[in-house]
Amino acid sequence: MVNKEDVLNKLSNVLDPDIKKDLVTLNMIKNLVIDDNKISFEIELTTPACPLKEKIRKDCLDQINKLNSDIKCEINFTSNVLPFDKKSMIKNIKNIIAITSGKGGVGKSTISSNIAVGLSKMGAKVGLIDADIFGPSIPTMFNCENEQPMFKKDGDKNMIVPIEQYGIKLVSMGLLVPKDKAIIWRGPMASSAMRQLILDVEWGELDYLIVDLPPGTSDIHITLSQNFPVTGSVIVTTPQKVSTIDAEKAISMFNQEKTKVDVLGIIQNMSHFVSEEGKKHFIFGEDGGIELSKKLNVELIGDIPIEKSVSESSDSGYPIVLKEEKVSEIFESICHNIARKIAVNNFK
Ligand SMILES: Nc1ncnc2c1ncn2[C@@H]1O[C@H](COP(=O)(O)OP(=O)(O)OP(=O)(O)O)[C@@H](O)[C@H]1O
Ligand SMILES: [Mg+2]
Repeated sequence: MVNKEDVLNKLSNVLDPDIKKDLVTLNMIKNLVIDDNKISFEIELTTPACPLKEKIRKDCLDQINKLNSDIKCEINFTSNVLPFDKKSMIKNIKNIIAITSGKGGVGKSTISSNIAVGLSKMGAKVGLIDADIFGPSIPTMFNCENEQPMFKKDGDKNMIVPIEQYGIKLVSMGLLVPKDKAIIWRGPMASSAMRQLILDVEWGELDYLIVDLPPGTSDIHITLSQNFPVTGSVIVTTPQKVSTIDAEKAISMFNQEKTKVDVLGIIQNMSHFVSEEGKKHFIFGEDGGIELSKKLNVELIGDIPIEKSVSESSDSGYPIVLKEEKVSEIFESICHNIARKIAVNNFK
């Protein structure tokens, strides 16, 4: 008969592959139960989007097998996402991720919506802010253009109740400002709107809040990075020189002392187009994003081709990551990559 101590002893030989410490020291083993010929326990991961679950499961089973090869073992995964900074955490928002680019139209909103829905599909609690006050596109990408967010009184304050769609909570300036009102925003108004979209929304507990930023480096970017604890930014670029030059400017803004935000990675979008005969066409040039990643020593965390299904899905209000298509796997891998980097950074 094996006892708990034997099991924990064996499990202390299994390392978290990213954090490089063993599961017992990391206090990741929960609810260990041993009954007759069966062991069951949970492994509490630092993100539900962990790409290494199967490796961890196999390593644990190998260890239990060494203890007693006849015993059955059931392992379930749970997660508790680590906050970026417990002290400065705003409300219950554990991580804020800024999606940005220098140049417009490179795919920020498409990528933001697929990252948000992708992380939620993996089990995370996710919010999405469309901070593109001048050209919001998230309501279209989530098929909720005609919905009006509700307001709820909290003391003297009027709180915005986010719209819920495909498992995530979202707010957009597009949902707050009537479509036919061409508002001329000045810098301070835009800054105040950015603050409101974080502070005056009933987010509840969030593992990740994705912020889809407007192109360039505006008051909105400065407000976000100076006033909120942003876990990291993701830079989107196409391979073209005009796009990578601007992406570099966006990265340098996040490197300034006052607006310092970690860059989690670069995504090269619209990298090529594959024709029906299977030939690759480099419509916007080749490898600009890859070269930028090498030059600045920032990891390339995704490379997305031009695919009709991506833009059609966005236009029809149903992000592509919800469909089983080859290109969806690229978005899933981007989600794994981001979640993994954040988990490792936040552990330190
Ligand atoms: N990989 C892709 N394949 C095909 N179409 C794409 C791809 N990525 C984005 N698009 C399309 O390109 C257009 C611009 O994308 P999107 O709106 O996401 O860019 P953006 O960077 O958010 O733009 P803006 O700077 O105006 O906010 C959209 O029509 C979108 O559907
Ligand atoms: Mg956009």
